[in-house]
Amino acid sequence: RPVSVLRAALLDWYDAHGRSLTWRAPPGSPRPDPYKVWLSEVMLQQTTTAHAAPYFEAFTARWPTVADLAAAEDGDVMAAWAGLGYYARARNLLACARAVANDHGGVFPDTEAGLLALPGVGAYTAAAVAAIAFGRPANVVDGNVERVMARLFAVETPLPAAKPELKRLAATLVADDRPGDWPQALMDLGATVCRPGAPLCGACPLTVWCAGYASGQPGRWPLKAKK
Ligand code: ADE
Repeated sequence: RPVSVLRAALLDWYDAHGRSLTWRAPPGSPRPDPYKVWLSEVMLQQTTTAHAAPYFEAFTARWPTVADLAAAEDGDVMAAWAGLGYYARARNLLACARAVANDHGGVFPDTEAGLLALPGVGAYTAAAVAAIAFGRPANVVDGNVERVMARLFAVETPLPAAKPELKRLAATLVADDRPGDWPQALMDLGATVCRPGAPLCGACPLTVWCAGYASGQPGRWPLKAKK
């Protein structure tokens, strides 16, 4: 079966069952604000959507633009970040906001490479912002996407060694159609259906493609190296 049919199945599922998250632009609206996409993706790297949501609301109410955040006092941003944990990320957040404000005229670079060159922006964030804010067909891979790939393709290499292979497999599914929705559809599937532990395969639009499902034991993947 062609990749386009798998993509259409997941994107249809996303239209019907995707989560409505405050930082997402509603379907049919213009692209979301890159600042909000960047901020939400940095917050979501260390916590769940439910936990991040009030922090996202507080940050965007207090600092509505990247220039506002860049001009904030370090201590105010650190205090607002408290509860999200991992303060290095808040420092990186400020360094990035200041680079965008001071070196890029307050406008986020609109390519994955340009985003990756910003301080504190790693592969995941660069790809996520390029795809979601700028409609670039970037390969966005987080833990949810890794788990979906491990099951879909029954990857026998254990994590973390499997990461490069899982990223290559995810890349085979990237295409120009709906580039911002695609990674969010995969992440929502991973968070709500292809869950850690026992997946809810009865609700999954991808079972006909899924090698893990075909095995009868989809929860076996992703394999993990013994500690
Ligand atoms: N996890 C991190 N970013 C996400 C997004 N944009 N949609 C769904 N889950 C996510």
